[in-house]
Amino acid sequence: MTKIPAPQTALHLLAVAALTASAAGSALAQGQPPLKVGLMLPATGTFAALGTAIENGFRLHVAEQGGKLAGREIQYFKVDDESDPAKATDNVNKLIKRDNVDVIVGTVHSGVALAMARAVKESKTLLIVPNAGADAITGPLCAPNIVRSSFSNWQPGYATGVMAAQKGYKTAMTITWNYAAGSETVKGFAEAFEKGGGKVLQNLNLPFPNVEFQALLTQIASQKPDVVFAFFAGGGAVKFVKDYDAAGLKKSIPLMGSGFLTDGTLEAQGESAQGLLTSLHYADGLNTPRDKGFRSKYAVTYKLQPDVYAVQGYDAAQILAGGLAAVKGDFSQRDAMVAAMRKMTVDSPRGKYTLSAAHNPVQDFYIRQVKGRENVMTGIAVKVLPDPARGCKM
Ligand code: PHB
Repeated sequence: MTKIPAPQTALHLLAVAALTASAAGSALAQGQPPLKVGLMLPATGTFAALGTAIENGFRLHVAEQGGKLAGREIQYFKVDDESDPAKATDNVNKLIKRDNVDVIVGTVHSGVALAMARAVKESKTLLIVPNAGADAITGPLCAPNIVRSSFSNWQPGYATGVMAAQKGYKTAMTITWNYAAGSETVKGFAEAFEKGGGKVLQNLNLPFPNVEFQALLTQIASQKPDVVFAFFAGGGAVKFVKDYDAAGLKKSIPLMGSGFLTDGTLEAQGESAQGLLTSLHYADGLNTPRDKGFRSKYAVTYKLQPDVYAVQGYDAAQILAGGLAAVKGDFSQRDAMVAAMRKMTVDSPRGKYTLSAAHNPVQDFYIRQVKGRENVMTGIAVKVLPDPARGCKM
């Protein structure tokens, strides 16, 4: 009988396999204390699963490097941010002031991430954002100590707008939560859709994280746009896609979304998600050796299929590792470290990319269609799409 290793054991095996590689880790790093990494992610609420995937991805890359980055041991400090902006400043200060971490990795929710960005602009702590798309983070709030391994909200919205216009749709309604990620994604969608000849008739929204969609679905049914564009994610996305179908709308008005609508959610959405078209910087079935290797290691380690959040967590660790390697683990050489991050090509499971001057990924956006439990890549909506970084002065 083959014994399946428990996740911890599997991570350990990976670590052992990678030890030889990391022995190349610098002599300088020997004798240095562990690097203190603060993980500020949601462990509860509608985005809980997203936080877990990010942490899994981050730890997987560290394990592949023998449990160390550029020869430095990693010591983790964790805070559950609950995706609650009202608690965000207190929560991030636990990591900055109480735990005195070297680097913070977080978070999922744009409103929480905005408070984190403001706090680290003051403390100068290095922040790597592994999801939250708040445009301001690589816009007016951009800073030498803030780097993002994910996307800006504008990017997937814009890419999906290009797709909707190319399909020939002329009128759209949008629906989302009323907070930065929702409104900025919808703005990106409208910019591309209207440039392509379409018109957004109305933007509908509800407070985060509410899932009482009925009244809004009734409005969609009565206005009958050519297409509906939605931004929802996590548990909220599961409920929205099911409700849209149950209301009978899926048959009559095509539903499109940034790919978060169907990423990490397909098991729970089942039939209701079949056929949906979305755009995102990751997809299933990319079929590259890099992605295949990542997916099989992730699946063996965690007994779960990876999703976009796992990739973004993995890349946060890759970017940190790349910067640290350039300074041989000497975290005090902050400027040289960030300069190396800015110059590196991130060899991501999503495909290779670089960071813009504002420190946001410049990356391809795929066209994806739901087939069974996968968001299958069927084409490219926009190649090498940079965020406009409006308002960033660095
Ligand atoms: C965000 O709040 O920025 C956010 C949350 C969940 C996602 C994407 C963006 O899937």
